[in-house]
Amino acid sequence: MIGTIFWQGRPVPFQPGESVASALNRAGIRAFGLFCGIGQCQGCLVAIEGRTFEACLMRCRDGVEIDTAGVTDA
Ligand code: FES
Repeated sequence: MIGTIFWQGRPVPFQPGESVASALNRAGIRAFGLFCGIGQCQGCLVAIEGRTFEACLMRCRDGVEIDTAGVTDA
């Protein structure tokens, strides 16, 4: 492992070059809606530093805080 991201305050280790979606998925975190894995469905949107990103496209950076993007199906 190369570093740690934080999902809603929970530490999640990541490997070099790993996407946020991959690291969260490996840690058993599924709450962010991973589906296509290639940036097309927008199902994996997460909030990072006040902005919204696709978790499947975003590379992990050590110490980053990540949360749900607040998107609902309603
Ligand atoms: S899983 Fe579809 S955009 Fe990320």
